[in-house]
Amino acid sequence: MTRVFSGVKPTGHLTLGNYLGAVRRWADLDQRQSDALFCVVDLHALTVDHDPARVRRLTRQAATLLLAAGLDPELCTVFVQSHVDEHTRLSYVMECVANDGEMRRMIQYKEKAARERERGGSVRLSLLTYPVLMAADILAYGTDEVPVGDDQAQHVELARDLAVRFNQRYGHTFVVPRATRPGVAARVMNLQEPASKMGKSDDSGPGIVYLLDEPDAVRKKVMRAVTDSAADVVYDREERPGVANLLEILAACEGRDPEDLSGVYESYGALKKDTAEAVVELLRPLQERHKALCADPAYVEGVLRDGAEKARGMAKPMVDTVYRAIGLLPA
Ligand code: TRP
Repeated sequence: MTRVFSGVKPTGHLTLGNYLGAVRRWADLDQRQSDALFCVVDLHALTVDHDPARVRRLTRQAATLLLAAGLDPELCTVFVQSHVDEHTRLSYVMECVANDGEMRRMIQYKEKAARERERGGSVRLSLLTYPVLMAADILAYGTDEVPVGDDQAQHVELARDLAVRFNQRYGHTFVVPRATRPGVAARVMNLQEPASKMGKSDDSGPGIVYLLDEPDAVRKKVMRAVTDSAADVVYDREERPGVANLLEILAACEGRDPEDLSGVYESYGALKKDTAEAVVELLRPLQERHKALCADPAYVEGVLRDGAEKARGMAKPMVDTVYRAIGLLPA
């Protein structure tokens, strides 16, 4: 069976972008058709300025939301990265396979490091080595497929390169993974800045719909979405990004095609109203399940404990093999 691995970073509250772009597909498809692991990658949240209590809170919340969104511990493995030591064991070894040049070329590193320096801050070394840890996350499980948004494609590419390089140098050890793309709304854009994606790490803004937003907050954000000065509803991602984003969100909520939907609406107002209601209805059952899970923290903790144990059982033999292959003396 195909092995699937993906992760969410607890650097902010999960958004509609995370759900439509990734999590919904994990729940609908990946966990049913493959042997899938979904990980809250908390170690990755330490690569930038962070508040320990907030990371802890967001880690628990992300795990709870994954379950609320329909990930079923009977079908897949849900766990927290730092609960399984194999990730950091393997990450160090992969640092001995990667080169500093290929780390410095990573787009996300360059952008985030530049932003941090502009603010007069310092850049954590772990921000540079982050893609190696991500490669370790993936490679520790013999992963075939990594369902992620476009912005993560370069990181998955690095995981591939490192796997191939390791296999060539030390003998065939790793499965070479590939990135897979989620469907239509693979990239939900910020409602206020339709040129940039609806990311959870951004400063909270009126352009981001969070999965736990109250219905009225959702309505307000969607109704205030930036469109443009034209009057007709046309689906054109390049020229009319704001309207295209709304059409894609609505289409993703209703399982329809954004192009078809554009013919249905005569005004932006009507499109926004329907989109707002569709998002409210999409989130309603998820929010109800989230509430029920929050009332039973022992259940969630149990799921994460079992998940970590299962994950460790898969990763440990792999990482032990890697240690041996690269020349470390067995303990
Ligand atoms: N880097 C990913 C992000 O920012 C999160 C991530 C970490 C991940 N490790 C992973 C995703 C492994 C897929 C597989 O979204």
